[in-house]
Amino acid sequence: MNVTQAEFVISAVGPDQYPEDGLPEIALAGRSNVGKSSLINKMIQRKNLARTSSQPGKTQTLNFYKINEKLFFVDLPGYGYAKVSMSQRQQWGKFIESYLLNRDRLRMVILLVDLRHPPSRDDTAMYDWLSHYDIPICIVATKADKVPRSRWPKHLKQVKETLLVRGTDRVIMFSSETGLGKEELWSHILQHTDD
Ligand code: GTP
Ligand code: MG
Repeated sequence: MNVTQAEFVISAVGPDQYPEDGLPEIALAGRSNVGKSSLINKMIQRKNLARTSSQPGKTQTLNFYKINEKLFFVDLPGYGYAKVSMSQRQQWGKFIESYLLNRDRLRMVILLVDLRHPPSRDDTAMYDWLSHYDIPICIVATKADKVPRSRWPKHLKQVKETLLVRGTDRVIMFSSETGLGKEELWSHILQHTDD
């Protein structure tokens, strides 16, 4: 897709702050530091509209980015960050959970995993949870530029087997460095947002 307009709209800490435009939403979930914010930037061809960091735990709120007056990307805080306190983690869980379960404009969750490593228990739990609630999922295995091309099939297989990916769910290899997978992911997103 040709992105002509992308703007940061709001960092929401509660439902009363969610945008009211009525546009479809695509949420980004995954471990802290897996590359959610970087993926958004690559998809919209902007260097740092979504704040990224080499330090995990950068994104702490629900960040809404409006694209072409057509859809929102919703950058969720990453999970699995050890330095976050238990009470913070519980609060985080409730917050995200209520968004994912109650937001009628949510059309799909992009679940990011790191292509280099087998998905973590948290990744598997997230996948199972989303599946259980019948939320449409697209799995994106990112940081592909860090894996030699000859090993891509092996790593992709590992991702699919560890998560026990159902045949109906897409798995897309991606790199926010090279742009690998970008067009494939856009076409998949548009399938879920075009009415
Ligand atoms: P939180 O906001 O903490 O949940 O992290 P995040 O998932 O938004 O990760 P972020 O996009 O901030 O990226 C974390 C680090 O990984 C940064 O140093 C990025 O430059 C790097 N990174 C992200 N995607 C890629 C990729 O595709 N390839 C490479 N080589 N590095 C990446
Ligand atoms: Mg982030």
